[in-house]
Amino acid sequence: MWQDIKPAPADSILGLTEAFYADTNPNKVNLGVGVYKNEEGETPIMECVKRAEKILLETEKSKSYLPISGDAVYGAEVQKLLFGEENSVIEEKRAITAHAPGGTGALRVGAELLKKFGKKSVWLSSPSWANHRGIFAAAGFEINEYPYYNDAEKKVDFSALQECLQKRGEGDIVLLHACCHNPTGFDLTKEQWQELAVIAKKCGWIPFLDFAYQGFADSIEDDRSGIAAFAKSGIDCIVSSSFSKNFGLYKERVGAITVITPSRTEAETALSHLKTTIRVLYSNPPAHGGLVVKTVLTDADLHAKWGEELAVMRERIKEMRTLLVEGLQKRGAAQDFSYIAEQKGMFSFSGLSPEMVDWLKKEKGIYMVTSGRINAAGLSANNIDYVCDSIAEGLRR
Ligand code: LMR
Repeated sequence: MWQDIKPAPADSILGLTEAFYADTNPNKVNLGVGVYKNEEGETPIMECVKRAEKILLETEKSKSYLPISGDAVYGAEVQKLLFGEENSVIEEKRAITAHAPGGTGALRVGAELLKKFGKKSVWLSSPSWANHRGIFAAAGFEINEYPYYNDAEKKVDFSALQECLQKRGEGDIVLLHACCHNPTGFDLTKEQWQELAVIAKKCGWIPFLDFAYQGFADSIEDDRSGIAAFAKSGIDCIVSSSFSKNFGLYKERVGAITVITPSRTEAETALSHLKTTIRVLYSNPPAHGGLVVKTVLTDADLHAKWGEELAVMRERIKEMRTLLVEGLQKRGAAQDFSYIAEQKGMFSFSGLSPEMVDWLKKEKGIYMVTSGRINAAGLSANNIDYVCDSIAEGLRR
C-alpha cells in the first residue's frame, strides 16, 4: 500500500524537536516548540502537580470510564478559571464544558461540532499557529485569513482586522487567540476586545477563542479580557482551553471545550450535541490530567501554590525577553529588537528571516520555527550569551 506514496513532511513545530534531538552540536538550543523550561533547561513537574498526584495515588479508587464530557467538578473549575467565580455566565448556566484531550483536542471537537450545524468557513489570524489550519481543514472547513500583524510596525494591525471582520457574517467562525498570540506574542487590548465583541454581535459571526496560555501574559485574571468581552455580550461563543502550559501537563493531554450560549436551554442542547460529537471521536476523555487539575484547583493550599509557580514561570520568561533585547543591543545589532520585550507569553516573533533561521540551525544548532518565532522560555542564563552572539554574528554576515 505504501510503495508509491511519498513521505509526509515533518511537522513544522514538533518536527523541529526531533531534529534538535538528532543534532550533535554540544551548544545546541531549542527555541522551537512552546514548552516551558527553567534555568536548568528542564521542563519540571510543578510541585502542586506532584502533591496532587500523591493524593490521587492514595485516594483514587477506580479507573472506570469518565462521563463523555468528563468529570463535572473539573468542568466547573474550568469555568471558574475562564470567567471568574462570580460571573453571570456561570450563574445563568449559559455555558457548558467538556474535558478534551489538550487544546488541540478541544479545537477539533469544536470544529466538528460547528461543522455538524452547517458552519463551513473559518477565519484565522494572519499569521496563526500552524496547526489551526490543519485542524479546521481536517474537519472540512474552508480556511480564510484576517489581517492581524503589521510586520513593518511590529504591532497588531487593528484597523485592518476590524475592517475584515466587519464583513464577516453568520456562516463564519472567527478564531481568536485569547492571550499570548501564537506566533507573534502581540495581543489585543481590553478595549479592542470589547470593540470586537460589538462587531461579532452585529455581524453574527461566531468567535472561537483559543485560550492555551492563561496566566502567561499578565495574570490569571487579566488574561481573561477576551473571554470576558464575548461572554458579557450574550452571543454564541466557543472556547478551547488547555492546561498543557500553565500546569505543565503537556503529555497528559488535558484541556477543555466550553460552549457559551445566550440561554440555559440552549446550553443544554449544545451539551447533548457536544456529547455525541465526542463519542465518535474518542468516546470519553483520559482521566489522570483532569483529576490532577481538579485536585489542585479545589484545594485552597494547592491552588495558591499553583498561582505562585505560574507567576515564577511568567516572570522568568519576561526576564529572558529583556536579556535578549539588551544582549543584542550590546552586541551592536543595527536592528531595534525592543519590541521583543513588549510581546506576551512564550512566543516572540523575532523578525529574523527564514534564511537566518536556517543558518542559525545549521551553523549554531539554534532551533526556531521558520517564521522566526522564538520560544523565549527556551532561553536561560546558560545559553543567552551564545544565542545573542550567534544572532549578532548572523546579522553581520
Ligand atoms: C507550539 O505552538 O509550539 C505549541 O503549541 C506546541 C504545539 O503543539 O505546536
